[in-house]
Amino acid sequence: MKTELNYLDRNEFNFEPSQEVKDAIKNFDLNKLCFYTRIYDQGKKSIFSVFLSEQYSIDEKQIVLGYGAEDLLKMAVHYFLTGSDGNKTMLIPKFSWWYYKSIADEVDGRTLQYPVYETEDSFAYDFDGLRRMIAEENPKILLVASPNNPTGNGLTPDELEQLVGMVPATTVVLVDEAYASYVTEDISYIRNLIAKYPNIIFCRTLSKFYGLPGLRLGFGFIGKGETMERFSRYANKYLGYDRLSEEIGIAALKSDAHYREIARVMDEARRMYTDEIGSLPGFKVYKSMANFILIKYPIELKAALQQEFAGQSYKVKFMDEPDINSHMRITLGRREQNRMVADIILKVAKR
Ligand SMILES: Cc1ncc(COP(=O)(O)O)c(C=O)c1O
Repeated sequence: MKTELNYLDRNEFNFEPSQEVKDAIKNFDLNKLCFYTRIYDQGKKSIFSVFLSEQYSIDEKQIVLGYGAEDLLKMAVHYFLTGSDGNKTMLIPKFSWWYYKSIADEVDGRTLQYPVYETEDSFAYDFDGLRRMIAEENPKILLVASPNNPTGNGLTPDELEQLVGMVPATTVVLVDEAYASYVTEDISYIRNLIAKYPNIIFCRTLSKFYGLPGLRLGFGFIGKGETMERFSRYANKYLGYDRLSEEIGIAALKSDAHYREIARVMDEARRMYTDEIGSLPGFKVYKSMANFILIKYPIELKAALQQEFAGQSYKVKFMDEPDINSHMRITLGRREQNRMVADIILKVAKR
């Protein structure tokens, strides 16, 4: 019998979609796929952006949509690093998603890493270091991820505001909030910050908290003013968005309770990993608000851990980057999967 692989390596969703999502697919009117949406005749992008506009109490004009947060991030980085001012510099966190640098490279951008330091149980952005780099490098984009992948640390709305206050008006603060719904249900700070600062962009997605990475639906919120209006026109899809995804996306956002329940299972798993694995000699479990957990292990166990995970058909992410190469990032999954992962680690650690 072929054993199913357990994918806990890319922060996907090992649970079921909500009933509302299943119903939206079952009841979808297929004739809609035979026509483009006509919502653009009303000056709107999509029924999805209209829904978001109501949910977040934000003007629809300040909402941008993309095929996943990946698409939004790429559009923003390409657009702002190829502007007429010739400024191609982007600052990204030292430990972060590999994709940021790769999309800047596509347009010959110059990516510099700003410091992220380790604390007793977490990681943190180094605000002083960042302030110095901003003054020295005058970046076009300051990219922050909150929570950050793979370190799991995030920023409070006050800290975000501090950061926007640090940069010149010509620098765009691009906030990747792919995992933010795990941290707080509060979304009002987005409205406040985009009302106050014309140079900020928030990117969110249906891929993580709402468990639909296969849907490829991302959304963003942009500051007011000429610069962001131009970016919004650049990012717009003039013939509309995927009409099935729009409806599924709305159904997902309407079924928060289902996803909050799953987030509680993840809370349990975080506690379990912290108690059981964090107490092993040479191991450290970092605090994470997202749907993954980062664990440091004694480097001499790397090969044995990799072998044991592969043997049990479990895929987790073994980090190989400098200064973070004795770490693994594990997606929080179903209870029995989390138990199995912990047992694999315990088995190897206690050999
Ligand atoms: C920090 C971060 N941002 C964005 C994404 C991509 O999200 P999407 O599926 O919406 O493109 C990921 C995917 O793992 C991620 O880790």
